[in-house]
Amino acid sequence: MTNTNGFIRQGLDPSLEEIIFTEDWQHVVYDISALSTLYNAGMKEVITKLEILDTEFSSLYNHNPIHHIEHRLKSPLSIIEKMQKKGIESTQDMIDAITDIAGVRVVCNYIEDVYSLAETLAGQNDITLMEQRDYIKTPKDNGYRSLHLIVKVPVFLSSSTEHIFVEIQLRTIAMDMWASLEHEIRYKRHRKISDRSIAELKICSEMLHSVDNTMQNIYKHTDDTYDAFCL
Ligand code: GTP
Ligand code: MG
Repeated sequence: MTNTNGFIRQGLDPSLEEIIFTEDWQHVVYDISALSTLYNAGMKEVITKLEILDTEFSSLYNHNPIHHIEHRLKSPLSIIEKMQKKGIESTQDMIDAITDIAGVRVVCNYIEDVYSLAETLAGQNDITLMEQRDYIKTPKDNGYRSLHLIVKVPVFLSSSTEHIFVEIQLRTIAMDMWASLEHEIRYKRHRKISDRSIAELKICSEMLHSVDNTMQNIYKHTDDTYDAFCL
């Protein structure tokens, strides 16, 4: 196997390795590398917008909605794997169809923070909301909860403006805990999960959701008491 640009991936399907490292994919690998500056810029823009909102919420309401933000650019190998799954061969089709090359994860303190941030961000003039999936209102069968937005943001270059996709996942600390551990169990351990564990994961998700609702109520109640005290 030829190792293109030093991309090494353990456990990759051997047939996929053969296809990826052929001449046909060389141009895509170079295009992805050139485009990474653009996706990085779009991702940074979204993060800056979120940080500004967090600071503003803090000064207006004495509350920071954001616990922390994570971000990542999809690796060239993952992009090519996805292109092959979707039957995409050209760079332009990749740009149009793969919407999660730039990803931002916003871990919020409370459920209401998730919705107020999403609404405020999506309402900004230069942001176009392309898709919204609410896995909080309608969790996945396994118990996964998060609010997913696909947005387009403009990146201003010296002689053009490019609009690029950024996937934003918003969730609470409790939802993030569940998703991180479930991901670790499912992907990293390479073990088949028993039906019993699948059922238990779902129960954990429901318990954490109940904790989220209770914490939200405690926070609101504390706030009311504080307001009443100040009057
Ligand atoms: P992808 O091909 O993975 O992008 O799926 P999709 O386009 O159908 O989007 P979906 O909304 O299902 O998931 C997008 C991302 O959400 C994933 O890449 C994960 O980061 C996260 N996600 C979705 N489902 C789960 C889940 O069951 N568990 C965990 N831990 N994360 C999930
Ligand atoms: Mg996706």
